[in-house]
Amino acid sequence: MRQLKLASRIDGIEESATLALNARVKQLAVEGKTIYNLTAGELACETPAFIQAAVAKTLHLNKYTPVAGLPELRQKIAAHARDFYQADWIQPANVVVTAGVKPALYASLLALVNPGDEVIVPSPAWVSYKHLIELVGGTMIETPLTDTFDLDPSTIADHITPKTKLVIINSPHNPTGAVFSDGALRELAERLKTTDIVVIADDIYTKLVFEDCTPLSTYGFNHLVIVNGFSKSQALTGWRIGYLIADEAVAAAVAKVLSHIMGNAAVPSQHAGLAALSHGDKPVMLDVLRVQRALVESGLRAIPKLKYTLPRGAFYFFIDIRAITKDSLSWCEQLLDETGVALVPGEAFGAPGFVRLSFVTDDAVLKSALRHIKQFVEKGPA
Ligand SMILES: Cc1ncc(COP(=O)(O)O)c(C=O)c1O
Repeated sequence: MRQLKLASRIDGIEESATLALNARVKQLAVEGKTIYNLTAGELACETPAFIQAAVAKTLHLNKYTPVAGLPELRQKIAAHARDFYQADWIQPANVVVTAGVKPALYASLLALVNPGDEVIVPSPAWVSYKHLIELVGGTMIETPLTDTFDLDPSTIADHITPKTKLVIINSPHNPTGAVFSDGALRELAERLKTTDIVVIADDIYTKLVFEDCTPLSTYGFNHLVIVNGFSKSQALTGWRIGYLIADEAVAAAVAKVLSHIMGNAAVPSQHAGLAALSHGDKPVMLDVLRVQRALVESGLRAIPKLKYTLPRGAFYFFIDIRAITKDSLSWCEQLLDETGVALVPGEAFGAPGFVRLSFVTDDAVLKSALRHIKQFVEKGPA
């Protein structure tokens, strides 16, 4: 067959650095090897029973809803967000319901970024930002986090140019589990005060915090777009349900874009969102995650060559293995082959020399995995 020529915008989209590793994980499991999979980006439990029960009553509903979502859901999200974000300005007209945070991000970028615009993203960073930005013709400008994975406002300010349109802030942060400090966020807001730069707050992990966390909405950013959802708080990753909160003009532009590329979020998923909010969107597994975080911390403390900063949110440790190697990809492959422990190499987030350990699995798996990692590190390279 003659080779079909794809659009050039696809050229820049790389397959995730973790795909090959995931294929290997599956292959080894098929071959009967015991795998300790610490790569997950989603909670391990099933859909909460109260959500299943609520949605079961709505399965006969099959019609399009308004693109921006069911009016009662937008209302509930607005009411919840006014309280959670301590922001009186949030009304239903500021809310657009989306099929998860990814389309909320993509539609915001389509609505705000012109080709050639620059978008600042503190790095290491979640893998999709770069591709989403490049798909709309923008350029991602990476600025490093500090050594303790805090935001560095002065470095961000140093990278501002006349082309800077946006800064994306993700706190709690994937892959590091960091919650950015009050001081750093206050300074960033101060530095952006005289600009028209928009801040997108990717708040997908905002309910998964192990100590109080001040929402970005309280720092007085001139232009704030919040993207959030139920994927991580309610273990609803596969249901594809999230939302965006922005000023009315941005929300209307986003709904206009979505009306052509996606339409409304699936009706049962919108009802899942309603059910979640009727329970206050309380995170389903926070207590368990807290115990698992402590378990991993004590395991890592026993391996001096591995350095870590205790995550204050989300469910990841981002471990510094530079005392051993900067080639985390090879290190992860070797670890997987020899011990069955799967971690995500830092290369996937633009940070070689680090590995991401996700602790959303049961205690027995975590304990065995940590024992294997310790032996692997103590044994040294093959
Ligand atoms: C930082 C970050 N933002 C957004 C998403 C995507 O969220 P959703 O599944 O709701 O699209 C993820 C998923 O892993 C994430 O880690």
